[in-house]
Amino acid sequence: STADGFDRYELVQREVTAEILPGVPTGLWTYGGTFPGPTIESRRGRSVTVAHRNELPVPTVVHLHGGRTPADFDGYPTDLVLPAGWSGDHHMHDPQAMTTEVTREYTFPLDQRPTLLWYHDHRMDFTAPAIWRGLAGMHLVRDDAEESLGLPTGPRELPLMITDRAFAADGSLAYPALDPTLRERPGVREPYVAGVLGDVILVNGAPWPVHEVDAARYRLRILNASNARHYDLEAVLDDGHRLDLVQIGADQGLLHVPVTHQNLPIAPAERYDVIVDFARVPMGSRVRIVNRLGSGRARDVMAFHVVRKAVDESRVPDVLCSDLPEWQRSEAVRVRDFSFRAGQMGDGHGWLIGGKPFDPARTDVTTRLGDVEIWRLVADVHHPVHLHLVGFRVLSRGGGPPLPQDAGLKDTVSLRPGESAELITRFDGYRGRYLFHCHNAEHEDMGMMANLQIT
Ligand code: C2O
Ligand code: CU
Ligand code: CU
Repeated sequence: STADGFDRYELVQREVTAEILPGVPTGLWTYGGTFPGPTIESRRGRSVTVAHRNELPVPTVVHLHGGRTPADFDGYPTDLVLPAGWSGDHHMHDPQAMTTEVTREYTFPLDQRPTLLWYHDHRMDFTAPAIWRGLAGMHLVRDDAEESLGLPTGPRELPLMITDRAFAADGSLAYPALDPTLRERPGVREPYVAGVLGDVILVNGAPWPVHEVDAARYRLRILNASNARHYDLEAVLDDGHRLDLVQIGADQGLLHVPVTHQNLPIAPAERYDVIVDFARVPMGSRVRIVNRLGSGRARDVMAFHVVRKAVDESRVPDVLCSDLPEWQRSEAVRVRDFSFRAGQMGDGHGWLIGGKPFDPARTDVTTRLGDVEIWRLVADVHHPVHLHLVGFRVLSRGGGPPLPQDAGLKDTVSLRPGESAELITRFDGYRGRYLFHCHNAEHEDMGMMANLQIT
């Protein structure tokens, strides 16, 4: 941190060996030596510079997901941080790609609503394996207004990055779609076109953790950083009784009013800000966070053990904020349609937007800074669709009203199989080249991404 109004961090991207499963060494690619990377905390409107040095064996790209970031620092998929001494294929299909440095400084103005952002790799065709190996971290943005609400804080605020991983017998992370012996055998890779799943659930890099808590309210900042796995989370006691999940925030910050859920579906890249009150269960209770969509051991996520009586001065106000953008249909100057569907890419399977796979040399959408637009999306299978730079509101789903968990300002919307949805947003902030894509990381690598030019 420096005195003159901005914060500076240095992160070395490097390989480490860590013990994730007891007694077993696992090789990881990390930001700064840990998985997840260090959680960065920032103030709204205070610039942060993160200098990334690449000591990994491959080029990387850093993207701050949910960040309102100038295009030069948004982590375009061909805008590489090269490893020291790199002489391989630069993946430079793109004449516009700007820098190819060993160390790259990214500056984030963070002129945006407070929320949980996350940073992760975004290199073209290689995002999914890079995230899988560990290139992901969390970044909290805070401000005075949110801090004055009296929400649980300090040790009672927990950022929780949920990921699934598969391990080979030697402890290494198994990424089947990249195994060349699998790739060459026709049909074997096919099962992975839907996305790569693991059978071990990690929370903040630890398998099925148990966290001891006070009998008090906790604020859970939940992020699904899995490549492809969807969760439908619930908090259950051993007797089957469920604890309310009181949602106070979405991807892009606080809701207007809290929304109470019994279970909460979360797609890759989505975040939920949730209050759980452990004073409402008997002392000594175990509260398990369970994925209703999972089977076998992938059904369990983590557990809380209520071990201490405590004073709780936190509160959850009836009105959380009143600065949420409410764009009206009548404000939209354009309506666009996009399909998210499987299709042919080269001689293999691809995932396409509007029938086309990603091409960095093609501009798919051009809009003017400040324009309000409605986007109508339709999906064949599950696709979590993410827009860079802007947050949006979900206007409708399947022709009907949005779901309860669509409340607030989102940057990723979970399209369900066969479903359509309408989004509305204003493209403001910065001019330049941005992206929108499916955040199933394998779908993204297999083409389901497009360019958005703001002029
Ligand atoms: Cu979280 Cu374009 O990504
Ligand atoms: Cu993003
Ligand atoms: Cu997808």
